[in-house]
Amino acid sequence: MKYAAATLLAAASVAYAQQGEWQQCGGIGWTGETTCVAGTVCTAYNDSSDFSQCTPAPPSSSLPRLGGVNTAGFDFSVATDGSFTGTGVPPPPAQFTHFANEGANLFRIPWQLMTPTVGGPINETFFSIYDKTVQAALNSGPETFVIVDLHNYARWNGDIIAQGGPTNEQFASIWTQLAYKYGSNERIIFGIMNEPHDIPSVATWVDSVQFVVNAVRQAGSRNFLLLPGSSWSSAQAFPTEAGPLLVKVTDPLGGTNKLIFDVHKYLDSDNSGTHPDCTTDNVDVLQTLVSFLQANGNRQAILSETGGGNTASCETLLNNELSFVKSAFPTLAGFSVWAAGAFDTTYVLTVTPFANGTDQPLWIDAVKPNLP
Ligand SMILES: *[C@@H]1O[C@H](CO)[C@@H](O)[C@H](O)[C@H]1NC(C)=O
Ligand SMILES: *[C@@H]1O[C@H](CO)[C@@H](O)[C@H](O)[C@H]1NC(C)=O
Ligand SMILES: *[C@@H]1O[C@H](CO)[C@@H](O)[C@H](O)[C@H]1NC(C)=O
Repeated sequence: MKYAAATLLAAASVAYAQQGEWQQCGGIGWTGETTCVAGTVCTAYNDSSDFSQCTPAPPSSSLPRLGGVNTAGFDFSVATDGSFTGTGVPPPPAQFTHFANEGANLFRIPWQLMTPTVGGPINETFFSIYDKTVQAALNSGPETFVIVDLHNYARWNGDIIAQGGPTNEQFASIWTQLAYKYGSNERIIFGIMNEPHDIPSVATWVDSVQFVVNAVRQAGSRNFLLLPGSSWSSAQAFPTEAGPLLVKVTDPLGGTNKLIFDVHKYLDSDNSGTHPDCTTDNVDVLQTLVSFLQANGNRQAILSETGGGNTASCETLLNNELSFVKSAFPTLAGFSVWAAGAFDTTYVLTVTPFANGTDQPLWIDAVKPNLP
């Protein structure tokens, strides 16, 4: 067996050259080994760090292919400038089992006004109502995931986070509190901000995102986090606008498999999601996004808003789009269409089931065939 042992040693010498856990693997002036042993990843303290070390890799858990729907309602109180009135409307809980029975395993539940004062404590009365909805969604299936979506457009009463509005500490406060409440359930995904738009400095916004990632981990949460870019979380703008900066956001857990990018894309003429007819299937846009993600560390994104009217054009084009999303797994982790929940059956982009329990044509023809 001597010969075999010598062979093993030679093969293992590559591994011996790798750095062990907590050993240095990079930094300014570092000329040593830059790869880490299995189970660890080389992590820099920050961008200009003079010291990188092999830190424990995050758990290998990864998201299954996800497909489902936004159940809107709690967000009805907020305008796109982050101003608000009232507390919104809870989505009907029966929808979760309705859609889960058809294969949906993802529900995005937007909300606003979790904290009546900016940076203040969670309104426990509101939270108990919101949480009933979250639990109903989680209970609709053993593998069902829920996106807890802060639907504030990076704003509070018209002012942008860390750019004239709330501080990063105030932004992080709500997520720290939610990390304590939801940090033990990895089927709850934190959508840390819906649709930042008209942001003066995208780099400053990405710093705010990093601030929240750090705060959530500091609070002990290992949940998947959805990182939003700019231009209304545009999937199209992502590779050139926020993407190149967001890919540098680090996870204190190590690795990046729990940092998923949050993108939106509609199919109408101006990508606003306000028209009943569709003009594109977005396959070119999503292919560009997939290439970008694969070229930048093999990252993942989720299409957490998309949709169209109950029209022939949307039934065809949305089906094409969602078929592409399905084929691009795991780079594209999945989708949730906009919207059911408290929207009535006449809303322009409605997928709310009719009172007699039947589904909207768009759901039947474009969404249902592409569910996991
Ligand atoms: C980056 O990390 C180094 C330690 O490696 C530290 O000295 C430096 O202050 C940090 N810079 C920033 C901007 O946090
Ligand atoms: C707390 O939430 C409840 C339920 O949504 C609402 O009725 C109440 O006005 C909220 N309290 C404050 C101080 O906003
Ligand atoms: C259910 O209601 C919708 C809307 O009113 C109607 O178009 C559809 O035909 C009904 N389906 C059944 C099976 O009753």
